[in-house]
Amino acid sequence: MTEENVTPFTPHNAGNVADPDDSLEAARRDCPVSQVSDVLFVVTSDKDVRAMFKDSAAFSNRGNFTIGREDRNHAFPGITNLDPPVHTELRSRLLRSMAPKKLRSLGPHVARVIARALDALPPSGEVELHKDYISHIPSAVTYSMIGLPEEYWSEVEVLADALVEAVPAPETSMPEYDRLMELMGQVVRDRRKHPEHRRDDILDNLCFATPGEREMEDLEVIMHLRQLFAAATDTTRALIANCIYRLLEHGDWARIVADRSLLKNAIEESLRFDSPAQFMTRSVVRDTVIGECPVTVGHKAYLSIQSANHDEASWGPTARRFDITRQVAVQHVAFGRGIHSCLGAPLARMETYMAIDALMNHYPRMTAGRRATWEKCEGLLLRRPKEVWVQLVQEMPVTGTNTGKTAE
Ligand code: HEM
Repeated sequence: MTEENVTPFTPHNAGNVADPDDSLEAARRDCPVSQVSDVLFVVTSDKDVRAMFKDSAAFSNRGNFTIGREDRNHAFPGITNLDPPVHTELRSRLLRSMAPKKLRSLGPHVARVIARALDALPPSGEVELHKDYISHIPSAVTYSMIGLPEEYWSEVEVLADALVEAVPAPETSMPEYDRLMELMGQVVRDRRKHPEHRRDDILDNLCFATPGEREMEDLEVIMHLRQLFAAATDTTRALIANCIYRLLEHGDWARIVADRSLLKNAIEESLRFDSPAQFMTRSVVRDTVIGECPVTVGHKAYLSIQSANHDEASWGPTARRFDITRQVAVQHVAFGRGIHSCLGAPLARMETYMAIDALMNHYPRMTAGRRATWEKCEGLLLRRPKEVWVQLVQEMPVTGTNTGKTAE
């Protein structure tokens, strides 16, 4: 695309939803902080996005994900919509169940989920890997981490997926939202009515306060569970899908099959190159300056994670190239920064490593399928290919230099 016919970046522009990268590059070059509506500023430089993630005094998480005036007024906002001190209290409570060590201890369970998904794949032939393999993994891991009884899993998955696709539309008007709330209500009431079913999971953590903690109403617990479904499931599917797609597209599959020590950094490069969560929003609560642009209370800012992760000023002239050996890939902002940085990052990294490692062991000669093409999924928030067509070719399992290990 030539510089003249690049569409200016605005989040709603259909062309930008399908492929924002040229428009984001133009925005970084011409106007890294630009006002695109009476309420919304778009911020595209890595330096400004990082600074805003860290400045929670000037930029509130209230109204996160909405990009117009319409803030959702839930009685109990989820953790990504809260500010201190309520946010601090909830985050430290969740950390009891989600400390990195605790998340990594889910490894054997993740391995079982992956083995089951792998067993369902045919020995050879062309398959759509997102539907037939990837999508089953993060949902099963998330639901069991939360403690959702297995009989709810398939219905919850369909409902939660529909809500993520609709972001930033108000979800409360959707029938899927009502049904999800109803199901979660049953789950919460059931756990509270039967303390003999207590287990060391997130449901337990939220349903039963420990000394010094606040008891939560049923609805509050439900809202936090609902937020976790959204935060943990489709984002991780997107990471696995993006990484597999790019490894095959760039001819890196065989190289990592032979040297599995390259996989960990390839995942970081995937997070940088195709950031699964494309943006976060902040509300301006203190008059301030972003870059050189004054912004006043009442406005909102769209922090483009995708753009920050492609910013030539930070990543150099190869910023828009996929390179699994990039030295500093891990410095991306795909998991945010500051007080709201992603609590599930260790789990997402581990699931992705194990899902790809297992696939490499079973299908070392897997290639992109004939139908493989990068067409972005629906929705403003997520970035992943709609479909991941691959050609499976079965062989005896091979052993890479580091195979079988989980990511550190
Ligand atoms: C590749 C997968 C994932 C990506 C790209 C991702 C991305 C993000 C980002 C950008 C934020 C920052 C939100 C903000 O600043 O407003 C965030 C927060 C969060 N993520 Fe993730 N996430 C992923 C996976 C997960 C998983 C697997 C879980 C749960 C196990 C999870 C749980 C959370 C929670 C609870 C927060 C809120 C933290 C807070 O507000 O203090 N995420 N995530």
